[in-house]
Amino acid sequence: MTPPITTALSLVDTDPAELAVDAVVIGVHSLAEADSPGARTLLLASGAESIAAAFDGRLTETLARLGATGAPGEVTKLATLGTVTAPVVTAVGLGPEPTGAAPAPESLRRAAASAIRALAGTASVAVALPLPDDEDGPAALRAVAEGSLLGAYRFAGYKSTPAPRQPVGDIAILVPDADDKAARDEVTRALVVVGAVTLCRDWVNAAPNELRPPQFADAVAAAARQAGLEVEVLDEEQLAAGGYGGIVAVGQGSSAPPRLVRIAYRPAGDGPRKRVALVGKGITFDTGGVSIKPAQGMWEMKSDMAGAAAVAATLLAVAALEPDVEVTGYLPMAENMPSATAYRPGDVVTMFNGKRVEVLNTDAEGRMILGDAIARACADGCDYLLETSTLTGGQVVALGKRVAGVMGTPELCERVRDAGDAVGEAAWPMPLPDDVRAGMDSEVADISQVNAVMDRAGHMLQGGVFLREFVAEGVPWAHIDIAGPSYHSGEPTGWWAKGGTGVPVRTLLELVDRIAAE
Ligand code: BES
Ligand code: MN
Ligand code: ZN
Repeated sequence: MTPPITTALSLVDTDPAELAVDAVVIGVHSLAEADSPGARTLLLASGAESIAAAFDGRLTETLARLGATGAPGEVTKLATLGTVTAPVVTAVGLGPEPTGAAPAPESLRRAAASAIRALAGTASVAVALPLPDDEDGPAALRAVAEGSLLGAYRFAGYKSTPAPRQPVGDIAILVPDADDKAARDEVTRALVVVGAVTLCRDWVNAAPNELRPPQFADAVAAAARQAGLEVEVLDEEQLAAGGYGGIVAVGQGSSAPPRLVRIAYRPAGDGPRKRVALVGKGITFDTGGVSIKPAQGMWEMKSDMAGAAAVAATLLAVAALEPDVEVTGYLPMAENMPSATAYRPGDVVTMFNGKRVEVLNTDAEGRMILGDAIARACADGCDYLLETSTLTGGQVVALGKRVAGVMGTPELCERVRDAGDAVGEAAWPMPLPDDVRAGMDSEVADISQVNAVMDRAGHMLQGGVFLREFVAEGVPWAHIDIAGPSYHSGEPTGWWAKGGTGVPVRTLLELVDRIAAE
């Protein structure tokens, strides 16, 4: 896969106190004191026993004196001065000790990422976080492996001189048995999965002048061909001839023409298997068009292709993981610009499935390009359709920056939520109410692009209701609105780097795995 992640990841099962690495990461919990309300004491997580022994039992006390409380994501570095081989021990907070059980995989994923990020500038790190030696072991190892690699992500960017303190280059995870086949498979898988997340993040973080639709299409097509995927790229003339009215309308305002990229994975051998269609919104920059957006924060609209980036990255990982299911990605790409050739409010556009749409707001461009792509996916045939897009600001208002909104057929929506839960990418099912659809009846066409009656009421739901019009009868489908979760504007925390997050790549991969296992 291109680009492969440069961080090396391995397993080790020897004594962490004797490892010749630059730092060892251990976990600490905060423990509520039974007899003094509000007071908390620090507790070492399992995995740190031999290091604690080398400190003659004074490790917890020393970390507490340095300010460690065990709060999630908190990082405390301690010089070891010869007590153990590594010169630095880094304690990362895991939150309250879970009663009787191992920490939740997601706490481990976030903690590993926080620790590795805090150790940027360090060449080699061993991660000695608590991994249960039972049936919960694989999920915990997967979380630590993914978290460690995600924490080593940094966007290379465009600086003339590279930023100092390179991300950690070499990570070894302490496990009960480093030769265990299942454990080694988790390392291989984590490299592929985080490789895909990395690629998605890099595309999202790319400057929008560097990644206009033709360049984005070329980049995806090149990576997909290299991965052995089947590739089809439709240019603006083929789109017009093919009846992709929505993609053409949005794309016509830009000097960089639109594209529709289709990439397909087919497992080796024949025989009946499920077909999954993945559709992702690829607006390389969203100015709003003639219904132009306010200037404040508009630069973040370079991330309006996060859905397409996630789908492309997922397909590349699928090519490497080879699940027994057919997966096809559909990436409509356009730049939404105001210009003398731009589409305008009042236009009536004929979509790929023949439906006529009355445009009311050119800033609702995502649903125009997605309607075509969804209809094309259904025309090709699929057993499940998953679509993801930075579709509405309403998603952020309703669910915030961390939780994606999911609309579609109820059973598949539940499966998206479950898969998201398993990988630590929160997603929540939302309804498709009749009154939201009723307000989208158009005076002149088959449907209005937005609900003119309700204005911003049920904003996120309007997107889902509109997209439903382009899904063929009987196809289980889910629309995953990632306007908030796909991009992290604040300071890095846990596995959330600044900028593109890679959401929902891991959810899509989990769903593909689960469908393959049906
Ligand atoms: N790309 C935006 C949605 C968005 C907003 C993504 C904030 C990420 C962060 C989308 O194309 C858009 O402009 N939606 C409009 C829809 C409206 C015009 C019906 C919106 O959310 O206001
Ligand atoms: Mn828009
Ligand atoms: Zn948009």
